[in-house]
Amino acid sequence: MSDPRLADLSCRLPELRLLTAAGDLEHYGRDWTRRWIPAPLAIALPATVDEVQVIVRWANEHAVAIVPSGGRTGLSGGAVAANGELVLSLERMNRVLDFNAVDRTLTVQGGMILQQVQETARGHGLLYPVDFAARGSCSIGGNIATNAGGIRVIRHGNTREWVAGLKVVTGGGDLLELNRGLVKNSSGYDFRQLLIGSEGTLGIVVEATLKLTDPPLPSQVMLLALPDMDALMEVFALFRAQLSLQAFEFFTDQALQHVLAHGAQRAIDGEHPYYVVTEFDAVDEQQREAALGVFGQALERGWVSDGVIAQSEAQAAALWRLREGITESLAPRRPYKNDVSVRISAVPGFLCEMQALLANEYPGIEVIWFGHIGDGNLHINVLRPHDLDEPAFLARCEKVTRLLANTLHCHGGSISAEHGIGLVKRAYLESTRSAAEIALMRGVRKVFDPRGILNPGKLFTESS
Ligand code: MLT
Ligand code: ZN
Repeated sequence: MSDPRLADLSCRLPELRLLTAAGDLEHYGRDWTRRWIPAPLAIALPATVDEVQVIVRWANEHAVAIVPSGGRTGLSGGAVAANGELVLSLERMNRVLDFNAVDRTLTVQGGMILQQVQETARGHGLLYPVDFAARGSCSIGGNIATNAGGIRVIRHGNTREWVAGLKVVTGGGDLLELNRGLVKNSSGYDFRQLLIGSEGTLGIVVEATLKLTDPPLPSQVMLLALPDMDALMEVFALFRAQLSLQAFEFFTDQALQHVLAHGAQRAIDGEHPYYVVTEFDAVDEQQREAALGVFGQALERGWVSDGVIAQSEAQAAALWRLREGITESLAPRRPYKNDVSVRISAVPGFLCEMQALLANEYPGIEVIWFGHIGDGNLHINVLRPHDLDEPAFLARCEKVTRLLANTLHCHGGSISAEHGIGLVKRAYLESTRSAAEIALMRGVRKVFDPRGILNPGKLFTESS
């Protein structure tokens, strides 16, 4: 190692896998945002908690920033290393450590991929219910760092509900064992919950004890075509009142056109402004008929213009692909992503106001709306027009986001529902959190990471 800091690290941990080849720096230095040029110092792939602690202490001594890294599927730049940081990848710490049938918990290392967590739970006849399209690549540590949501929040809540215990290495190098899988624990501040959603700025999640639940009941998947936004909320209220929903997701016709162009199969003929993919419990014939009845009511009232019920698992998967394939279908256009939330009741007002504002201020701009409407969480992707270069596009997107942030502020919403603030939304944090809250966040950060070595520049800038 020519860099003396890295030579010192290798000396302290001769077994540590350290990568410095250009291809590795490029690969591990970026996430799905693709906006920053990766420029880390090196990549460390520890295999044990001890190694993580030694690395963090080394980083403190040499004032080297650390970017904790999982599957790097983030959409806010939270795992980007563009300033000579050490990327600490949890990739090799991906094992199951314990399954406890009585507690119904699964303890895993922080680098385990979400899909492996889900499959392990299934293998024990149980369910780890947090789920979203990046399941095959994202890591549980990253899910925890952003309090990931996804497509089943309406039934099961966010990642936060499913973490019974955490082991974290703080920015100071201490190992904390938080909550230890307890169901009840009324012994002061719950640092476990504080760490969840802290975006790698307080500690590195090296182990997590996850709650598991009953496997899902047999379900049905329905695709609905809707005439307008008001109908969307009416249908949601009707379906939620009469069926036991597992998911309720929406997307616009523009989003559908991108997925279809990307190879997905059309399921409903004609053009409709909005679509919903919904999944609900359908245990027996009676429940299946009840669902048809609810669909009939929506049709009669003019809230739904067409619909399809999946008749097989393959059809259900094909309907889900229309929603879950949106991100991938937009990726070649490198969209500017917004991930916002308002109270569910405020969705129609907010959406109509934003659509009108955008059409007025930025005519011709291509905005793709989709998301977890049942949670009040909307994904607003802005696409770069072919005749606009990247800097001009980003400048325009910043203006769109400022407009969005101001509108959200008036609606009491959040600039990040589930993707995190990272680098992308840092400038807009104050639209969602008060100055007093941000000052407290900075103070908390100082306690957990006195030298500010963990993910500096993410969430907020280092100096106020
Ligand atoms: C989704 O809901 O599909 C994800 O949050 C990804 C995205 O917003 O692109
Ligand atoms: Zn989402």
